[in-house]
Amino acid sequence: MHFTAFVTLALAAPVVHTWGDLGHRTVGYLAEKHLTVGALTLFGRLLANENNHDYSDAATWADTVKRSMPWSRGFHYINPEKDDPPTTCHVSWPSDCPKSGCVVSAIANYTSIVLDTRQPLIQRKNATMFIMHLIGDLHQPLHAVGWKTGGNEVKPLCWKRTPPAGQVRCGGDLNLHEVWDTRLAHTLRGLPISLDNGREKRAAAEWADDLFSRQRAAGLVGGKSECDELGTTKCIVGWTAESNALVCSHVLKRGEQWILRNDLSEEYFDENWETVDHQIGLAGLRLAAWMNAIALATSGRGKDL
Ligand SMILES: *[C@@H]1O[C@H](CO)[C@@H](O)[C@H](O)[C@H]1NC(C)=O
Ligand SMILES: *[C@@H]1O[C@H](CO)[C@@H](O)[C@H](O)[C@H]1NC(C)=O
Repeated sequence: MHFTAFVTLALAAPVVHTWGDLGHRTVGYLAEKHLTVGALTLFGRLLANENNHDYSDAATWADTVKRSMPWSRGFHYINPEKDDPPTTCHVSWPSDCPKSGCVVSAIANYTSIVLDTRQPLIQRKNATMFIMHLIGDLHQPLHAVGWKTGGNEVKPLCWKRTPPAGQVRCGGDLNLHEVWDTRLAHTLRGLPISLDNGREKRAAAEWADDLFSRQRAAGLVGGKSECDELGTTKCIVGWTAESNALVCSHVLKRGEQWILRNDLSEEYFDENWETVDHQIGLAGLRLAAWMNAIALATSGRGKDL
């Protein structure tokens, strides 16, 4: 009896992943490269730890506390109500955000906590790590859509090409959310799906270097972004709507039936890897602008921060 109840619960609980750690780590490292001296000082102090944890670890922290802080689970996404992709993609603010919170309200909440220099350091540290993760998450199109639990229910899918070799996986339980979190990113970087910690961090650092040089060549440098209005949700809602629109234009362009029937590591990969690369780059740049703006707004406030 108890066992049955447990199994039912376990099956009912949606498995929600986020950009795999590779993506989040890359966003963390990329943001670090764009930080001003003031931001490096502030966040160097706030994120200080004895475990050699760096910006990429800070960006993955929020996924590690989903169990101990279950109320934070809903902060990783938003489920717009009037959505019907691929026909209609739309985010309504604030009606699409439940009282319990969503990615937009959580970023706003944690921003006000980091800005409040009277808050204890640990609060501001955790808030910083939430922001570093959640700005990454909202750039993953399937975190900005409620359709089929953000694509988690679209399965089983087929993905045959998993570099460097081996690991053919079709008809397992691979779902569309996971394809966008992990498969596209690892494949575009020429990486196998599982990496040990050290290799994952090196791969993320290389991806961040690569994105940073392309952004610099395009004139996008430290802290310049279209949005740094910390006091409002306007920018965050705009980024979320942009991400949501990608569900209609890219994620579901071919329709669900096509997705269920094809090896997604072929044409689907070819059509979508640039979007992943672009979104990770944008997330890192925007996160940096956000952090730079926080540093600017708090400079001169508080004793030494
Ligand atoms: C704001 O963050 C705090 C600290 O994690 C949390 O307890 C609270 O529920 C959050 N509030 C909202 C509205 O998200
Ligand atoms: C901050 O996060 C740690 C886990 O990394 C947790 O133990 C601690 O309670 C959190 N503190 C606050 C104030 O949220």
